Amino acid sequence: MVLMTERHLAAADELRRLAGWNQTSQGWVRLLQVEPEGCFVAMENYELIGTVTTITYGRDLAWIGMMLVHPNYRRRGLGTQLMQRALAYLQSHRIECIRLDATPLGRPVYEKLGFVPEWGLPRHQVTPTTRSNPQNTRELVQSDWTAVEKLDSQAFGVSRSQILRRLAQDSPATLVWPAQGPILGYGMLRLGTQADYIGPLVCADTAGAQSLISSVLGIASPRSVFWDVPDDNPLANALAKTFGFTPVRPLTRMRLGPASVPSDPRAQLAIADPSLG
Ligand SMILES: CC(C)(COP(=O)(O)OP(=O)(O)OC[C@H]1O[C@@H](n2cnc3c(N)ncnc32)[C@H](O)[C@@H]1OP(=O)(O)O)[C@@H](O)C(=O)NCCC(=O)NCCS
Repeated sequence: MVLMTERHLAAADELRRLAGWNQTSQGWVRLLQVEPEGCFVAMENYELIGTVTTITYGRDLAWIGMMLVHPNYRRRGLGTQLMQRALAYLQSHRIECIRLDATPLGRPVYEKLGFVPEWGLPRHQVTPTTRSNPQNTRELVQSDWTAVEKLDSQAFGVSRSQILRRLAQDSPATLVWPAQGPILGYGMLRLGTQADYIGPLVCADTAGAQSLISSVLGIASPRSVFWDVPDDNPLANALAKTFGFTPVRPLTRMRLGPASVPSDPRAQLAIADPSLG
């Protein structure tokens, strides 16, 4: 296992493509810039055959993502070794609460390492047929950030302003609700390699949540849109149904260590990304 650097990114993105994941080459750059000492690759004969990334949110919470092993090298313990390298890095930072979003292939590997499931967030998909108009939302401006970061940290459990601002740079728009007055919700839509991706999206108000989903769908490109819908969130599930989303594959939020940082599926209508939380 060696540290991931920029020269690994093209091969890492090829592994991502082979797995059919929706992230982009820009997503790797973002992870590497935010946690340059915490992303690792497995190499054999100068060939990149595995990846894992970490991201630390202060000293309280860390996320593990982009766990990929080349199909020809699976079931030899490589995934477990990559995880152990990532965990050693995070434990050297004394971070006790570690989370990730697991695919069905990843889940048994993580369970053997002590991770426990918290809640499901199955990926949903829709291909928008009509373009909805933005409803009582507007684009975020610089002065909105304080309010947006406060809303987000209440929902996510810790502050993650650095990553939020980077995600906003890579999103066609970051919308806030309502268009006037104090901000009560916000949401992003990002371009992926397979589909547009909704998230993060936070809004406790039913009408506001509906406006935000309608508005982000209004800026989506005319291809599929993905939304990882927390299954213990009745509002998210009702809206997913209203807007025609259907489930396409399972995903499970898992935790290692104490639940010292809360993780409330009802507080988050859409996560930022499986590699980020
Ligand atoms: C998930 C993934 C990273 C696992 O990588 P891996 O290198 O196969 O992981 P490991 O070899 O450590 O463990 C996988 C299985 O092989 C078994 N295994 C480990 N060493 C073995 C060996 N020498 N011989 C046979 N089996 C072995 C493990 O016990 C484990 O079994 P289980 O699935 O029944 O629990 C890989 O399948 C992958 O890239 N999948 C696609 C992307 C993905 O879904 N990533 C997870 C994101 S959350």
